[in-house]
Amino acid sequence: MRAPIGVFDSGVGGLTVLAALRRHLPHESFLYLGDTARLPYGTKSASTVARYARQTARVLVDRGAKLVVIACNTASAVALEDLAVHLAPLPVLGVIEPGAAAACAASPTGRIAVIGTDSTIRGGAYERAIARRRPEARVLGRPCPLFVALAEEGWCEGPIAEAVAQRYVGDLRRTGDDPEAIDCLVLGCTHFPVLRGAIEAAVGPEVILVDSAETTAKAVHQVLERKGLATDAEGPGDITLLATDGPERFARAGARFLGLPLRPGAVSLVDL
Ligand code: DGL
Repeated sequence: MRAPIGVFDSGVGGLTVLAALRRHLPHESFLYLGDTARLPYGTKSASTVARYARQTARVLVDRGAKLVVIACNTASAVALEDLAVHLAPLPVLGVIEPGAAAACAASPTGRIAVIGTDSTIRGGAYERAIARRRPEARVLGRPCPLFVALAEEGWCEGPIAEAVAQRYVGDLRRTGDDPEAIDCLVLGCTHFPVLRGAIEAAVGPEVILVDSAETTAKAVHQVLERKGLATDAEGPGDITLLATDGPERFARAGARFLGLPLRPGAVSLVDL
């Protein structure tokens, strides 16, 4: 089936998931919507984010998406079940379960920290998803909302990113043989992987960093195969990028997330 895969986030963060999807599924076409007019989602109430998620997903479905990926941890945490019911039988996938699976596979001791937006951490979705897979795991959640602004601004490395990372997670660095120390840090917000260098410098080389992009792409691949929705196209798929505000800014910041040059006119403005 040649219809596109729909992907959305509050901004450019979900492009880190789109980049992984393109690597795993090079023949598929993608329709991406960044709800930049209403970013950040992470400081808003669950009911507001769930309403935004419905409206954003609706644009993708109206434009023919065959499957929807919620490339936003905040929206996955509060809106996945609602959207799955609302859009059924169209498949809807979030990023929390794949992120939790990646953390459980990567952590030797089960001492895991999760960083994300206020809303993601407050809701405890990662703790629950990790506990289902590894009941003995101990999970420390920590909100790091400023990372979202840094990523949208494109300030991904350098002294400001490093100072913010140090302030948020510097104390998670492993020192000596502390049995309580974490060994795995989940980047539980799709904006955070572009700050990986600054976060790694703050926590040190002994803490394993994981994000949900690769595991989400694998989960999407499986669903496409299982439901007979995979494309039969043999050439490279297309990408259509949409934003609800500031398309030129989105193209500038998005190029780094996607690892592709984007012309200023590459992103179209949509209203929800
Ligand atoms: N990228 C989003 C996430 O994964 C949300 C960032 C925001 O809008 O606060 O949670």
